Amino acid sequence: MNQVTRVEHPLIEHHLCAVRDATTRPSEFRAAVHRLAMILGVRATEDLVTQPTKVSTPLCDTTGYTIACNVGIVPILRAGLGMVDPVLTLLPDAAVWHLGLYRNEETAEPVGYYDKLPRENAPNVALVVDPMLATGGSIDLVAGRLKQWGVDDIRVLSIIASQPGIDRLTRDYPDVRIFVAAIDPELNDRSFIVPGLGDAGDRIFDTPQDG
Ligand code: PRP
Repeated sequence: MNQVTRVEHPLIEHHLCAVRDATTRPSEFRAAVHRLAMILGVRATEDLVTQPTKVSTPLCDTTGYTIACNVGIVPILRAGLGMVDPVLTLLPDAAVWHLGLYRNEETAEPVGYYDKLPRENAPNVALVVDPMLATGGSIDLVAGRLKQWGVDDIRVLSIIASQPGIDRLTRDYPDVRIFVAAIDPELNDRSFIVPGLGDAGDRIFDTPQDG
């Protein structure tokens, strides 16, 4: 089992062009994020445990297979919200556990501002969704928090990751699996992924920041 999966598919390449393109309008950016998240979601769930169940078709009884594990979707606010609906479409019975983090612009360190995870009832599988994995600091924090909660199977779905971010996460959490549409080589001096896509949260919600 590979810890890092770069999902390869012509549709990934196609929709990646839209999210990378600086002229893509927010509505189209959101739509492309949605499509990419759905493809990542299919790939990240391909080995979920199933159980046999009897299904009666109009013609006869047969055996089907339903998901047998408890899956939680964990969006990292804000940008992760853009990936919730497509993953929830795939897993309509999943609970959604929000975690709020933003990056301090000076230090690029994550700052937590929302966490209402209960003490118990951790899901068997957590699908962490965030379009960007830059330094890896945010996902690092989230992985630690989910482990503290009791989640054994953590899978990160990210549209674009940086190689340094991937290196950090694989070093710190070798059992956390990562599913990405692209791995970009580097970060700039403001810890933005290069070539990247800019700031996913601002592009999803149309809230451009200065600079
Ligand atoms: C972005 C992004 C990740 C984080 C990645 O969020 O959506 O959560 O930064 O950076 P890291 O890997 O270096 O930690 P941002 O701080 O821009 O907040 P937002 O989602 O509210 O826009």
